[in-house]
Amino acid sequence: MSAAPAKAGRDPVRLGILLSGRGSNFLAIAESIRAGRLKGVEIAVVVSNVAEADGLAKAQELGLTSEVLVSKGRKRQEHDADAIACLRAHRVDLVCLAGYMRLLSPEFLAAFPNRILNIHPSLLPAFPGLEAQEQAFEYGVKVTGCTVHFADEHLDHGVIVVQRAIPVLESDDAHSLAERILAEEHIAYSEAIARVASGEYEIRGRRFVKRIL
Ligand code: GAR
Repeated sequence: MSAAPAKAGRDPVRLGILLSGRGSNFLAIAESIRAGRLKGVEIAVVVSNVAEADGLAKAQELGLTSEVLVSKGRKRQEHDADAIACLRAHRVDLVCLAGYMRLLSPEFLAAFPNRILNIHPSLLPAFPGLEAQEQAFEYGVKVTGCTVHFADEHLDHGVIVVQRAIPVLESDDAHSLAERILAEEHIAYSEAIARVASGEYEIRGRRFVKRIL
């Protein structure tokens, strides 16, 4: 299956970034675009489900379009309906979950089929869920890393676009390991966006492969 958001007329692929907190992955994407390392994409909107999220304040400082859709106390379907409407209103082609700490409803997934990327701080399928870096550290793995994948109906599960691996050092603690994984995340997300935005890929089963033109 070819699943390309790249547009024939070479208009930039419009990103909708969803975040809940710190926003360092969002900032790394924004910086890749600004520095010209990530071409053919633009940030259409940054959406936070938390009004106090640092990432939201950073988006405002950068003068990017941002929206707050507070999710607390709302039914998932209702909140997601608003998020879908917001992303559509901003003509988003590709949704990037960047520390967005919410499960997506089936309706959200169906609204953007193979158009939602997520980043996770482990080499999936190892250590899905919360505190993946700590899980990996406590388990005693010798190699870990991060994964950018398409979101699907299961947690931290969809088709893998990019992974980056690092060794776990004997001198590491859970904190230093998480820091080094985060540095890889900041590279991996832009790499994954570039690959998806190029449109030059196919999904064969669970495999994301370069399309032979
Ligand atoms: C990142 O480490 C990201 O991989 C993780 O949340 C952090 C967000 O940081 N996401 C998950 O664990 C999702 N399962 P950021 O707000 O600085 O980008």
